[in-house]
Amino acid sequence: MEVNVLKNYKELSSTVADIVEAQIKEQPLSKLILPTGSTPLGIYEELVKRELDWSLVITFNLDVYLMNIDHPESYQSYMRKNLFNRTNIYPDHSHFPFRPTSAFEDKIDGSMGIDLCILGIGSNGHIAFNEPGSSFKSRTRVVELSEQTIEDNSRFFDSIDEVPTQAITMGLGTIMESKKIVLMANGVNKLNILNVAMNGEVTEDVPASILQNHDNVKVFYCD
Ligand code: PGA
Repeated sequence: MEVNVLKNYKELSSTVADIVEAQIKEQPLSKLILPTGSTPLGIYEELVKRELDWSLVITFNLDVYLMNIDHPESYQSYMRKNLFNRTNIYPDHSHFPFRPTSAFEDKIDGSMGIDLCILGIGSNGHIAFNEPGSSFKSRTRVVELSEQTIEDNSRFFDSIDEVPTQAITMGLGTIMESKKIVLMANGVNKLNILNVAMNGEVTEDVPASILQNHDNVKVFYCD
């Protein structure tokens, strides 16, 4: 797996934005899987500045909290605020996981395959909300968030009690069907888990380790 260590967060953001830009320019009808969280913020900022043509792009978000979608911390609000409302993407072209989850999977299948999937990694090795112990064959489903994830994400809420405890996430099996995958990690607190995921045993205890089985993954890290 290709692991690239970058100088700083600015370089991480512009490097991943370069990959998204190249994808959209080469194939205007690209199907992308997009993440939320703090790591992608700089990438979205960079993509907005570049004023790309998103009119034919189709996006699927990795996961959503089970909560009111109009809440400022919902991932739907996050995507509108940080990317969708600032590009010419068609609202009908951006999809979030929904129930029944099999219908969401059908929507991805109907798009004829994901060209590029951008991922972050959680401090417990999760990708999307596939917490440790998730099956490598898992598909989109409702999940309980781990205590670690609830604690990590409490920084976005007024108190830990407000953090949703359930989410809908794409499965590991769903993510692995993407043609190309980019994993980004920002901060020295992610270094250990990144190393375990990239170089350790491929095990459901470390969900991101499944990426060792994919033949087109690029990893970008900065401290
Ligand atoms: P972060 O989250 O970008 O906010 O660190 C990553 C993740 O949990 O997947």
